[in-house]
Amino acid sequence: MNIEAHARDVVSFYDRHPINEQQILEKLQLDGIDLSRLNEDILQNYDMDHYDGVEAIDILAQGAGIAAASQVLDVASGMGGPARYLAHNYGCRVTGIDLTESRVEGAKRLTELAGLSDRVAFRTANALANPFPDQAFDVVIGQEAWCHIPEKEQLIAECVRVTRAGGHIAFTDILERGGLNSDDREKLRQGMGFADLGTLAGYQGLLAAAGCVVAAAEDLSARWAVILRHRLEMYRSLEAQTVAQVGEATYRRWDDIYSLFVSSVENGHLGGGRFLARRV
Ligand SMILES: C[S@@+](CC[C@H](N)C(=O)[O-])C[C@H]1O[C@@H](n2cnc3c(N)ncnc32)[C@H](O)[C@@H]1O
Repeated sequence: MNIEAHARDVVSFYDRHPINEQQILEKLQLDGIDLSRLNEDILQNYDMDHYDGVEAIDILAQGAGIAAASQVLDVASGMGGPARYLAHNYGCRVTGIDLTESRVEGAKRLTELAGLSDRVAFRTANALANPFPDQAFDVVIGQEAWCHIPEKEQLIAECVRVTRAGGHIAFTDILERGGLNSDDREKLRQGMGFADLGTLAGYQGLLAAAGCVVAAAEDLSARWAVILRHRLEMYRSLEAQTVAQVGEATYRRWDDIYSLFVSSVENGHLGGGRFLARRV
């Protein structure tokens, strides 16, 4: 795989992703929300792109000991939902980095609307070349995003480098579990931007090799299989309006690739994991 070409594919995928700033703002307005009075308690219901809602953020935050004094880095922060949630609910400062500039700019505008710009910042950057100095953060988090990033050894090394000694790295991610054939792996790379997916044992090994004690590595696959089937059914229930918005061909393309993803989780080839590690 060509790393630069893959990064361009990921940006193009997220530039056209159905969860985006415009869609979030339209949905808020459809629900009758006055944007001049927007706050995080409302926005958190519209801007997340990971599984299991804000509870999944709380589990990472509590495991990592996030508190008001914490400096947190969200690696591959998307539209910024988790970053704003953490700042609002735990009082900490959060920085998000993301490869896709349109998402960083959207995340900044949503943060401004929610009145959190004094504590939440975003920057366009590749997680493989983290722009921050050594030990700049107390906690590094990530959710359902590192699946897009090739070279997991470099990714983990960068995450550990920017975490202070005694600080935590807490993340969830889509994993390979064995049995995925090379055709489906390539389809999922092209269609969903997955690159060199990690494994439960692989991430534990990389964290330990980078100087961490792994406190937890939890297999979430069974739970995610249920969540993902439900998400696919939701997508299909909105077929008429989605086709009207994006056209039949795009709707079918999404349905095909998402179906492959969901069935790969259901049949045990892919899954999910949650990791908590402390930098020694
Ligand atoms: C599923 S979204 C993140 C969702 C977010 N964690 C949340 O819970 O709402 C994945 C993000 O990963 C970003 N990404 C992919 N490759 C990256 C890289 N090499 N460096 C930084 N960000 C990357 C994408 O641009 C995208 O915004």
